[in-house]
Amino acid sequence: MADDGQTTEPNTPTRRTLVSGGSGFIGSHLVPLLLARGDHVTIVDNLSTGRRANTPADHARLRFIEADLRDALRVLGPGERFDEIYHLAAAVGVSRVLEDPILAIETNVEQTAAILRFAGEHGPRGGNARILIASSSEVYGKSSKSPFSEDDDVLYGPTTVSRWSYACTKAIDEYLAFGHHRMRGLPAVAVRFFNTVGPRQVGDYGMVLPRFVGAALAGEPLRVFGDGAQSRCFCDVRDVVDALPRLLASDACIGRVFNVGSDEPITIAALARRVVDVLGSGSPIVHEPYAGAYPEGFEDLRQRRPDLTRVRAAIGFSARIPLDQTIRDIAAWLREGRT
Ligand SMILES: NC(=O)c1ccc[n+]([C@@H]2O[C@H](COP(=O)([O-])OP(=O)(O)OC[C@H]3O[C@@H](n4cnc5c(N)ncnc54)[C@H](O)[C@@H]3O)[C@@H](O)[C@H]2O)c1
Repeated sequence: MADDGQTTEPNTPTRRTLVSGGSGFIGSHLVPLLLARGDHVTIVDNLSTGRRANTPADHARLRFIEADLRDALRVLGPGERFDEIYHLAAAVGVSRVLEDPILAIETNVEQTAAILRFAGEHGPRGGNARILIASSSEVYGKSSKSPFSEDDDVLYGPTTVSRWSYACTKAIDEYLAFGHHRMRGLPAVAVRFFNTVGPRQVGDYGMVLPRFVGAALAGEPLRVFGDGAQSRCFCDVRDVVDALPRLLASDACIGRVFNVGSDEPITIAALARRVVDVLGSGSPIVHEPYAGAYPEGFEDLRQRRPDLTRVRAAIGFSARIPLDQTIRDIAAWLREGRT
């Protein structure tokens, strides 16, 4: 069996941890961290966007269950106990909601409702497990305020425009988590991820950085939609996952929501240029109308930057890995053929 060589302290009971969506992009970086600290980890993933190859095939303390989350929770026996749960499984991103709103909305709301109930009955001695819910910067909607702080009001478009349903599903997930915390004392934390990037993220669902890096490596044009002046803050996934167990372990963080990401903005046009420069690529950068990427009337936000005051105060969070390093690491991963 492969092992990371690290063990728990003698006489410390092994922590049992459940990771939904553990074979996805963020989950696949979190799981090795949990194994390295000695946890027994169970992944539930239906491999809809995740890959089995993203996590070790034969680790002694890793169990992989390929299933839809709700089905798996139903069949995990009443004796199954978890100390911590990281709920990452979701239909991720606005483009998946545009593709199939029913599936995306049902996945994001129903699976979260199911795992919160499960957490209330499958913790130590049949009580509560600590649970971290993955939310998104999309929750802020189209507010023009910057930076976004956790207690800000949110602003969405009309319900006839599917684009906003992703934000609403993540907001409902947060409401549910806080409801369980208030009514049942469930130790729940919600984390709003901003743009998270790194190896194993795939460009299929409109994720901009892997799309740019892939194009730069192939010598193809990097397609920037609109004028490219829209800006985002990109944070390396390894910095992001490092924060998650620390947030969940802190009693002061329970019942609260945290922005996690980078607060250094870069425009999409500058990002394209940076990718080309860092990789020494000869690819041209071309501008295309939004109509080429999204349905008519699609609203893209001009900027999205987190206020990180809360997460810095709570766990001393800081993003350490520079964007150029992330670009090089994504390129190395793609060169290995891991598309
Ligand atoms: N990557 C980002 O920048 C970002 C930004 C904001 C929020 N998030 C949130 O972080 C979480 C993880 O995102 P990611 O980027 O790793 O995406 P991902 O698509 O790589 O991971 C999601 C995982 O969940 C699995 N999954 C989906 N539906 C499932 C179901 N019904 N049952 C079991 N497994 C299921 C998928 O197969 C996949 O492995 C999501 O909740 C997402 O909304 C990510």
